[in-house]
Amino acid sequence: MEEMKKGLEGVVALDTRISFIDGAKGILKYRGINIEELTDLPYDTVSYLLINGKLPNELELIEYSQRIREDRCVNAKLLEMLKNIYFGEEALDGLRTAVSLISHFDYENDDHSSNANKNKAIRLVAKFPTIVAALNSCYEGHEYIEPHSDLSHGGNFLYMLKGCIPTELEAEALEKDLILSAEHELNPSTFSLRIAASTRSDPYSAIICGLCTLKGNLHGGARKGVMEMLDEIRKPENIKGYVADKFEKREKIMGFGHRVYKTWDPRARLYKQVAKKLALEKGDRYLFDMAEELEKVLYYEFVEKRGKAIYPNVDFYSAVVYKYLDIPSELATSIFAMGRVSGWIAHCMEQYSENKVIRPRAHFV
Ligand SMILES: CC(C)(COP(=O)(O)OP(=O)(O)OC[C@H]1O[C@@H](n2cnc3c(N)ncnc32)[C@H](O)[C@@H]1OP(=O)(O)O)[C@@H](O)C(=O)NCCC(=O)NCCS
Repeated sequence: MEEMKKGLEGVVALDTRISFIDGAKGILKYRGINIEELTDLPYDTVSYLLINGKLPNELELIEYSQRIREDRCVNAKLLEMLKNIYFGEEALDGLRTAVSLISHFDYENDDHSSNANKNKAIRLVAKFPTIVAALNSCYEGHEYIEPHSDLSHGGNFLYMLKGCIPTELEAEALEKDLILSAEHELNPSTFSLRIAASTRSDPYSAIICGLCTLKGNLHGGARKGVMEMLDEIRKPENIKGYVADKFEKREKIMGFGHRVYKTWDPRARLYKQVAKKLALEKGDRYLFDMAEELEKVLYYEFVEKRGKAIYPNVDFYSAVVYKYLDIPSELATSIFAMGRVSGWIAHCMEQYSENKVIRPRAHFV
């Protein structure tokens, strides 16, 4: 039998046309386009690119955005059901259940044609933000706020979350966040989703696998972990003590390190720019400066002192962005999923179109 690779490290499991990563150079491309060129576009454009394999022309974008806006509403019975289940503060638990419920309300649930799957894709992209905002309003005991059809995907989410129109920069920051979270090759959640799709399970079931895998704090849950870490550190004077304590206990520091990137994650640099812009607009650099100081301390500890290639990943400065947007940490993983759902759908469709059931072997000991 082949040599066993723990954690499938370095194993190439399939061919994909959706994204490309060069972990040594810190390059990420969606459908052949550098991530740096995509972050000024609307999320809808990038979602279309991932799902359809090409950038939309003007008319295609208008139609796609229109359909997403029309599909933002969630069935009132479904919302009532969510309201009647106590989910606690972790929104991802509710989102996972909501996707299962949406499938029961979908008249095309049993239609496995590619057309029906594309319709499901639009419904999922459109409804994720509404569900996350609705779960938050249930948890906080506010009235549910209906989606606003004039706002962008990110702007509408912030509107539903806070009940007021976000500033241009806030809406832009969330659009960029959703784009930077949208796709990342065979990360754990996408891999688990592709395994489900490879058995010919339906897209809703596959997306639920993705959500369950995203939750863990070695993957998407790390963003919430970074927000909690920043709360715990509180002041720049506490950084060195916090880091020393983590090293002593041999605990992981959230938002640092990556299986594939052995340099800066390119998304982390872009998130850092967004965080800085928000800090400047809000006239409050305290948190940004503290995060930057933590970044410097960890560069010294990991790279200079220990010679390890451990740098900030996607979850580090995204957590800073969420804090500037006054987003509760319990929503962080679900907001990650709101962006990632487009990439997940693209992978689900790619798996269906060139399927081979994914079934590795285990070495019996
Ligand atoms: C992302 C991650 C899971 C990659 O894991 P991996 O490729 O399996 O690498 P390992 O966890 O085996 O780490 C390799 C070494 O670096 C260390 N390391 C990696 N990330 C670390 C971190 N964030 N804090 C402290 N040490 C870290 C490990 O302790 C290990 O050290 P050792 O060789 O002395 O035992 C890992 O870096 C991590 O847990 N990061 C924190 C969680 C996080 O931010 N996740 C989001 C990823 S996008």
